[in-house]
Amino acid sequence: MCGIVGYIGRKSAIDILLEGLTSLEYRGYDSSGIAVNIDGKIKLYKAAGKLQNLKDIVDKDYREVSKSTIGIGHIRWATHGAPTVENAHPHSCNCGRLAVVHNGIIENFKELKEKLEKKGCVFRSQTDTETVAHLVAAKFAETKDLTEAVRLATKEIEGAYALCVIHQDVKDTIVATRRNAPLVVGLGEGENFVASDVPALIQYTKKAMYIEDNQIVTLTPDTIDLIDIDKKKVNQKFETLPWEPVALSKMGYKHFMLKEIHEQPDVVRNVLSGKLRAIDEPIVLKEVTLDKEKLKNLSRIQIVACGTSLHAAMVGKYLIEDFCGIAVDVEPSSEYIYRKTITDKNTLVIGVSQSGETADTITAIRQAKSRGSHILIVTNRPDSTMAREADSLVPVNAGIEVSVAATKSYMAQLISFYLLAIYMAEVKGIKDLETLKHELIILPQKIEKILAHKEEIQKCARTFANSKDFIFIARGINFPTALEGALKLKEISYINATGYTAGELKHGPIAMLDESMPVLSILMTGKVYEKMLSNSEEAKARNAKMIALTDSTDSNLYELFDSLIHIPPISEILSPALAVVPLQLLAYYIAEFLGKDVDQPRNLAKSVTVE
Ligand code: F6R
Repeated sequence: MCGIVGYIGRKSAIDILLEGLTSLEYRGYDSSGIAVNIDGKIKLYKAAGKLQNLKDIVDKDYREVSKSTIGIGHIRWATHGAPTVENAHPHSCNCGRLAVVHNGIIENFKELKEKLEKKGCVFRSQTDTETVAHLVAAKFAETKDLTEAVRLATKEIEGAYALCVIHQDVKDTIVATRRNAPLVVGLGEGENFVASDVPALIQYTKKAMYIEDNQIVTLTPDTIDLIDIDKKKVNQKFETLPWEPVALSKMGYKHFMLKEIHEQPDVVRNVLSGKLRAIDEPIVLKEVTLDKEKLKNLSRIQIVACGTSLHAAMVGKYLIEDFCGIAVDVEPSSEYIYRKTITDKNTLVIGVSQSGETADTITAIRQAKSRGSHILIVTNRPDSTMAREADSLVPVNAGIEVSVAATKSYMAQLISFYLLAIYMAEVKGIKDLETLKHELIILPQKIEKILAHKEEIQKCARTFANSKDFIFIARGINFPTALEGALKLKEISYINATGYTAGELKHGPIAMLDESMPVLSILMTGKVYEKMLSNSEEAKARNAKMIALTDSTDSNLYELFDSLIHIPPISEILSPALAVVPLQLLAYYIAEFLGKDVDQPRNLAKSVTVE
C-alpha cells in the first residue's frame, strides 16, 4: 500500500528519495511523486503508473532537481480518486509553498473540504489528502510555525495517517506525524530520514526510532525534536535495526517470489531455532506471557487475520482444537470488527499478520483488548504496531518478504502455529507430541526435495496456464491449503481460482465442471484419503481435468488423474506445511508463463493499512 520517504541533510535528496521509493515498491502502488526545494521554491514531480515513469520525468530535470537537499516522496495505492497524476502525492495548497504526503485515510475529509472551500481553498484532486495540505497551510498562515501548524491540523483530522510536510518558508525542516499508520525516523550524521517502513532507510542508517500515535517529529539535518499532541517533549528511543540491506536483493532469482519460496527450508529452521530444542524437551515460547494457569483455563480462543494469514489461522484452529481441546473461532478481521463478538478475560485473542500493520486486524485486536482479552500476536514484524500493542508475541522470523504474494511468511506462520499448539498442549499436560516434533525438525529436508525436483509442477503449469478457471479441493486440515493455493493462483495469474472442501463440491460447485475445468485434489494419505479419492472420482465423472497433489505412490492414481504432483511422505497433521509449497510454485510458474508481473500484481498491496 502507500509508502512515504523523506530526506533532509547535505547530500542531494533526489537519489535517496527515489531509492527509498524503489525499496517500498513491493508494497503495491499505482502512482508516485516527490516534492523538493529548488532555489527556495517547492517543486512537485508526479507520475501515474510505475515508479519508472516518475524517474523518467525527474531525469529530464535532473540538474535542477539534484540541487535540493530536502525532499519527500510517495507511492500511492489509490483509495479516494483514480490513480492519475493529479491525485498522486505530494499535494499542495493554493500558494504551492507547502507539500504533503500521506498514507492512510482522512475519514472526515468531506466536512473539512467544505469548510476549507468556504475559506477560498481551491482543490485540484479528488483525494482526501489534499484537505491536509490546505488545512496545514491555513494553520501555518496563522502560526508561522510548521510543527505547530501540523499539530493543530491533526487535532481536526479524523482517521488514519502518516504525514510528512515541507514548506518553502521553513527551510531545512520536515515535520511528520502519525495516527494508526506506521512511521519511522532514521538517524544519520548531518542528515536524517523518515519513512513509512524500514526498507526505505536501511541502506543509509540502522539507527531508527518508531514514532507513536499522535507524536509529532521535526527533522533538520542535525536535530530531531519529538513532541506529543499536547506539545510535551517526548523521550526519544532509538534502536539498532537488525536488518541487512542484502535482504532486498533477488540473489539471482528471476523474481522475489521465487527466491522467497526457496528460502522456506531455512525459514522453518529459523522459526524452530531456540523454540524446539529437542523432541523430549518442552517448546519454549519466551514472548508468550499468558499466565500458565490462565492458559489452562481458557474458555475459548478467537483468531483474527486477513488473506493468507487467515489461512494459517485456519490451520492453527485445527491444531489447537485437536491437541488442546479448546474451542477456537477463526474470523476475517474485517468481519470481526463490525459485529457483536463475545469475548471476555477468559478469551485469548490471537492476531495473525505478516506485516503487523493490517488496519482491520489492528482494529480487531484493539476491540478485544478493550474487553479485557489477552492479545497474542503472530507476526513477521516484531517492530510493527500489532507487535508493540501485544500482550504476548510469537515472532515468526521469516525475514523481510518483498513479493506481494505471501509465501515464506505463510510457512513461518504455519510453523509458529504448530509450535504454539504444542506449547499449549504441553502446558495443559498433554505430552504425546514427540513424533510431530521430530517431523517438524526434518520438514526442511522434505521441502528441499520438492524444490530440487520441480519438473512435475512446471509441466502442470504449462498444461493448465491457459485455463480460465481453477478449482482446488481438499478436506480436513488441508482445506486451508486449498484456499491458499487458489489465492496464490488468482493473485498473480488473475485466473479465477477457488478452494472448496471436497465434500461440498456436490452441493453446488460441481455444476461448473466440464472438460475445460481443472480440479486439483490435495490428496494426502491419512483419514480423508479415501473420501478425497471418491470426491475426485465424482469430478472426473463430469469430465473435469484432474490433478492430484499427493504423497501417495499408488500407481493406480494415473488412471484417475491427468496430472500428478508428488511430494515426500508426511503425516497428515503436518501436511499443510509441505503441500503448500508445490501450490506456490504452480501459481508462480503459471503467472511467469503468462508473463504477469509476479512480484507486484495489479491492484494488490503488501501491507493493507486501510479498513
Ligand atoms: C496474500 C497476501 C494477503 C495478506 C493479507 C493480510 O498473498 O499477502 O492476502 O495475507 O493482506 O496481510 P497481513 O498478513 O500483513 O496482515
